[in-house]
Amino acid sequence: MKMTRKLTAPAIKARKGGDKLVMITAYDEPSARIADRAGADIILVGDSVANVVLGRADTLAMTVDEMVYHTAAVMTAEPSGLVVGDMPWLSYHTTPREAVHNAGRLIRDGGAGAVKLEGGRKRLDVVRAVLDAEIPVMGHLGLTPQSVHAMGGYRVQGKQAAAAYELITDAKALADAGVFAIVLEGVPDVVARTVTEEIGVPTIGIGAGADCDGQVLVFHDVLGLHDKRTAKFVRQYAQLADTAVAALEEFFSDVRNGVFPGEEETYHMPEDSAQILAELSEASGELPGSGIVADGFLADEAMEN
Ligand code: KIV
Repeated sequence: MKMTRKLTAPAIKARKGGDKLVMITAYDEPSARIADRAGADIILVGDSVANVVLGRADTLAMTVDEMVYHTAAVMTAEPSGLVVGDMPWLSYHTTPREAVHNAGRLIRDGGAGAVKLEGGRKRLDVVRAVLDAEIPVMGHLGLTPQSVHAMGGYRVQGKQAAAAYELITDAKALADAGVFAIVLEGVPDVVARTVTEEIGVPTIGIGAGADCDGQVLVFHDVLGLHDKRTAKFVRQYAQLADTAVAALEEFFSDVRNGVFPGEEETYHMPEDSAQILAELSEASGELPGSGIVADGFLADEAMEN
């Protein structure tokens, strides 16, 4: 059992105006371990899993079951940061009762420490109901991907003064309701700056300029784990897809050229057993039964160097 102390939603809220918060998405155990080793304050099991892992064009088909599955996988890494489970589209748009049930599944079955949901004043009754069930909520405003059809595409939001004013009012309403942080996605920097100055909980930006209390990006975008076009706000810190292709090409070439596996990747029989085996097969013209071949083999031996 890992003994490092886990970050909680109240601890994240208390970081308002302090050291910048770092948040990254993760969708399975290996990505969560990498995010944890790198020191993520918050790991978001985002419904962006639909795009970057499942190859879908949008996030709309994600289900609560799928989000629970990915959240539970992330939790097996026992990360020190706060794990936030993303509520998928239609899991909180009908009734507050259904929203509480679905948020509860991300906590109870997935193991998350908080949930995230998109929308402002329109979702206040749902936000309050989930908070009343003692589940910390992270808000998400601006370019909210679950509204792709309503927005007419993935477009920067709050570019006009009236829309910006609405967004700032939404942020204040969410903060007043008790969310512990708000993601601001795809909004002009001045809008994000204003929200950050006017609310008492941390803002976490993605395509929202440099003045938020923290920043979030998608794991596969940051690491270049795909070769698709990325949004303007993404900075790629590695091109791991290229590294992976080169590694696989080398493996395939080694197999084709007979240089993999080599001595160091091969198991050997004790000399005397090999001798008996050779004599038996020479005498009978066929291989002995599996009892002799498998004799003394332990599963752990597979890991021995
Ligand atoms: O699903 C997701 O990854 C997100 C982040 C981009 C904030 O919502």
